[in-house]
Amino acid sequence: NNHEWIAPKATDLRSPCPGLNTLANHGYLPRNGRNISVPMMLDAALQGFNVGPDSIIQAAKFGLLSGDDPTTLNLDALKLHSLIEHDASLSRGDFALGDNLHFNATIFTTLANANPGVDYYNATSAGQVQHDRLAISLATNPNIINTPKEFLTRVRESGLYLSVMGNPLTGVAPKKFVQIFFKEERMPIAEGWKRSTTTITAETLNPIEDIVIDNSNWTFTQRCEDLVLGP
Ligand code: HEM
Ligand code: MG
Repeated sequence: NNHEWIAPKATDLRSPCPGLNTLANHGYLPRNGRNISVPMMLDAALQGFNVGPDSIIQAAKFGLLSGDDPTTLNLDALKLHSLIEHDASLSRGDFALGDNLHFNATIFTTLANANPGVDYYNATSAGQVQHDRLAISLATNPNIINTPKEFLTRVRESGLYLSVMGNPLTGVAPKKFVQIFFKEERMPIAEGWKRSTTTITAETLNPIEDIVIDNSNWTFTQRCEDLVLGP
């Protein structure tokens, strides 16, 4: 298998998820972004990022609801608002404000400029970024959806970028790596990044996520029903 980074062609489909897009850009997922099954996503995440299945299987299964095929999805369908896609993203605009699919450099400045004075992001800075991105959306998007469901998704995503681009035991990630991951949807191998030797699981993510939560000073805008994610 060829895992070099190749930018997507105009006909290739991509998602609002920098993780899945990076895996597709490196050929761990089909480069055309089409007909992707749950096992394909779980295998790609493990091979490409050493992300174990337990931390992403719910998202992968939910993702199947984005389209009509019973067992596969196309990456662009994941922009479906409120399935997984939510407002106050780190690198994409809010659905009600236009484009919730493509990387947006203006939106990304909040994360890019976080943790000033040092060359890494950590769970504390990631929580502050979540707070600041939500404050911007609350101020600019009268249709914002911000319930515990969106919050827990956002917290998991912050744990994931810190873990896949950094050290999943400390939650410390070099800024340079995180920025390449979001902006280019590329594994920064040439810059010195290596796939984590520790498998990233719910168990490694939870302590990082707890710090993200503590630093995000979050409150809900609307309530939602409790989520049932499995048996
Ligand atoms: C968003 C990472 C797997 C669906 C995100 C974000 C990150 C991320 C960091 C936040 C982007 C932002 O706020 O701008 C990862 C990593 C994965 C992974 C590292 C695996 C190694 C998955 C899977 C699915 C998924 C399996 C479901 C099929 C999404 C969607 C979003 C998203 C729909 C958009 C949410 C939004 O910002 O509105 N992901 N992800 N991801 N992810 Fe993933
Ligand atoms: Mg979004």
